[in-house]
Amino acid sequence: MGQLSSGALIGLILSVILVIIFIWGNQDDDEHVNDNPQNYLEAFQVAMEFFQVQKAGKLVNNTISWRGDSALKDGGQDGLDLSKGMYDGGDHIKSSLPMAFTATMLSWAILEYGDHMSLVKQLEPARDAIKWITDYLINAHPSPNVLYIQVGNPEVDHNCWEKPETMDENRPLFYINETNPGSDAAGEASAALASASIVFKKIDPKYSKKLLTHAQQLHTFAMTYTGSYTTSFPKMQNSFNSSGFRDEILWSSIWLYHATHNKTYLSYLQKVRDDQNYEGLAGMSLLGWDDKSSGAQLLMSRLSFFETGPMKTSEQLVLDYKCYTDIYFCKILPDAPFHSSELSKSGLLWGDDTNPLQYPVAQAFLILLYSDYMLTSNTEKINCKYEHSYTAADFRKFAIQQVNNVLGQNAKRMSYLVGYGKKYPQFVHHRGASIPADENPSCKEGFDWLNSTKPNPNIASGALVGGPNIDGEFSDERRNRKQLEPTTYNSALLVAVLSALISTSTVNQTFI
Ligand SMILES: *[C@@H]1O[C@H](CO)[C@@H](O)[C@H](O)[C@H]1NC(C)=O
Ligand SMILES: *[C@@H]1O[C@H](CO)[C@@H](O)[C@H](O)[C@H]1NC(C)=O
Ligand SMILES: *[C@@H]1O[C@H](CO)[C@@H](O)[C@H](O)[C@H]1NC(C)=O
Ligand SMILES: *[C@@H]1O[C@H](CO)[C@@H](O)[C@H](O)[C@H]1NC(C)=O
Ligand SMILES: *[C@@H]1O[C@H](CO)[C@@H](O)[C@H](O)[C@H]1NC(C)=O
Ligand SMILES: *[C@@H]1O[C@H](CO)[C@@H](O)[C@H](O)[C@H]1NC(C)=O
Repeated sequence: MGQLSSGALIGLILSVILVIIFIWGNQDDDEHVNDNPQNYLEAFQVAMEFFQVQKAGKLVNNTISWRGDSALKDGGQDGLDLSKGMYDGGDHIKSSLPMAFTATMLSWAILEYGDHMSLVKQLEPARDAIKWITDYLINAHPSPNVLYIQVGNPEVDHNCWEKPETMDENRPLFYINETNPGSDAAGEASAALASASIVFKKIDPKYSKKLLTHAQQLHTFAMTYTGSYTTSFPKMQNSFNSSGFRDEILWSSIWLYHATHNKTYLSYLQKVRDDQNYEGLAGMSLLGWDDKSSGAQLLMSRLSFFETGPMKTSEQLVLDYKCYTDIYFCKILPDAPFHSSELSKSGLLWGDDTNPLQYPVAQAFLILLYSDYMLTSNTEKINCKYEHSYTAADFRKFAIQQVNNVLGQNAKRMSYLVGYGKKYPQFVHHRGASIPADENPSCKEGFDWLNSTKPNPNIASGALVGGPNIDGEFSDERRNRKQLEPTTYNSALLVAVLSALISTSTVNQTFI
């Protein structure tokens, strides 16, 4: 703390540098830049609204006129209160893996950029969104080796088109346990609760402790009874297929290290590093709801910039993860020497054709964060092979270009964030948004609203839709689920990246 004043001075200098980079980063060769400047603050505030749109349960201080209480009896058949949480997208399934990922990303954004959010009075709403999910996850974890991973069955749910407030279909429950394990679902829930425990550490120590206890139990469960939940429940491959569970265990481990500064949690990172067959690290896996390898390795390499707990910045394990992270960036940046990422025709990083936008937005967050680590730690550049290197400004420029593209700086002049910009999708694939507030159609009657050729009567503010395909094409039609369905975690990813852009100060060196 004795370094506070010199730290503040460095912070000030960096802020000035960042302002310059920020202004410079907003200009690129694109001729449309000047007629389409992005207002990150406004976009951030709009994106935050989607968590209000997606809330299940008994709403508190609801601000969305067309939303009301729903799913009040979820969990009741097993004596649990699973009424809270958030719907995943345009339907009414509550699936723990993507929902917990939403909370983890919001927590991460708060831990790195919480003071930016505070400046624009969005820190409390962000914490509220996390708590709405972590309250649910705690209730979904009634004993150490049992975690409820889904409420609702897509086969039933997708046969209806109803508002959440009036849905009347069965809401079956699915849980993992010792015989039907799911290290991916348990690992992500653990990561969410561990990261949230840091967020709430000072403001609500009792709640924070509770979160940490559940996070630790879930971590042990995930490590002891290994398997993917989509192996235990093969039908879930059709809705939320998980490509594996080691990334979630890595993610949970590094979050628990940050939450406790207990080195024991790094043993799994060591194990994975030593496993010649694991390709998740330094590989080409883009961060998204299913794969967190790149996020986990970045959180570990953070320790090479800022000494945290008992780990020294020079420890080999830390340096190895720093190296994986550098390689990852040396693969995804354009004109990178190991370039193996793909750009769509619209210029966005390409992952796959279901919900394409999650990839550019998530990677932009990682890229911006790394550039802020570099600036805060006075790291001049990242070296790739063949004398190719990147500065923090190079990183920032690419990330901003991706974000600006998503917000409307693209050939279609379309903002893919609903409620933001002059032109945004009108036919969002979202049951609640598509049915007028004063109509209460039954399960089958509701399909008239899916088929209707009129724009949605309600604006799903803050929804980030799936977005354009690899050819840059986008057809704004409600039945076009791959492009028009928003997901709750998409908005969390966008909130994270915009929280980095709404102000120009730097990241905190340690979380706790
Ligand atoms: C709801 O609003 C009331 C009145 O503004 C406030 O006291 C209360 O803290 C709010 N509750 C939540 C959960 O935000
Ligand atoms: C850094 O930590 C301090 C003290 O915990 C907190 O007040 C501040 O908001 C944090 N800054 C960021 C960027 O989160
Ligand atoms: C796990 O759950 C299944 C039901 O989904 C049940 O049949 C099985 O007995 C449970 N295993 C344990 C160890 O409780
Ligand atoms: C689900 O993912 C697994 C692992 O990546 C894969 O083997 C399987 O084919 C996928 N299932 C479906 C239905 O896509
Ligand atoms: C670290 O965590 C391990 C495993 O949970 C535990 O056994 C050990 O006591 C912890 N160490 C400290 C210093 O808290
Ligand atoms: C909606 O459109 C689909 C496909 O065009 C059709 O099969 C279905 O019958 C229509 N439903 C209603 C209620 O109009």
